[in-house]
Amino acid sequence: MRADDAHADLAHVLLTQEQIAQRVQELAQSVDEDYKDDDVLLVGVLKGAVMLMADLARAMSKPVQMDWMAVSSYGSGTRSSGVVRILKDLDIDIAGRNVLIVEDILDSGLTLSWLIGNLRSRGAKSVEVLCLLRKPSAVKIDVPVRYLGFDIPNEFVVGYGLDYSENYRTLTCVAALSPHIYQA
Ligand code: IMP
Ligand code: MG
Repeated sequence: MRADDAHADLAHVLLTQEQIAQRVQELAQSVDEDYKDDDVLLVGVLKGAVMLMADLARAMSKPVQMDWMAVSSYGSGTRSSGVVRILKDLDIDIAGRNVLIVEDILDSGLTLSWLIGNLRSRGAKSVEVLCLLRKPSAVKIDVPVRYLGFDIPNEFVVGYGLDYSENYRTLTCVAALSPHIYQA
């Protein structure tokens, strides 16, 4: 899919490349400041957090390690069931380490609350969350997001790592998908 083809599928842009870059820079400064006397391991959730992780880690002045997990929710349909299966586990032992989970979007919050519990149970010294986007549905479940990029309306969004059927991840903006894509 060419980039200009993808743009025809978008209803409207929610966040421009510039807005995202500005906010990621601010978040990186906060993380730098908060962990200035301590080590931190960034744990990215595949695949949605790939762009965010790459930009965040390079916007930080503190050198950090990165590791990755891939998880999937059990259950049918598009809703998260809260029962999570690990598709790819961490390579690094996190016992005694400060972990910062880097996630693309908080919707029901079920995936992230499971992940926080799972990483805590491995004896991490601390587990915090950095999330680029949060939908209104996320207020129902109490997921402690230490660093938040943007609150967005309850629309299905793509771009900057976020996908619909594995497409649109490489868009540099975050945009709502046009309804004709769902109806297709
Ligand atoms: P939840 O918070 O457990 O409901 O799951 C959040 C996950 O669902 C995210 O990590 C995304 O992979 C996916 N997701 C939720 N909302 C969207 C969206 O608007 N666009 C793309 N993926 C989404
Ligand atoms: Mg995700």
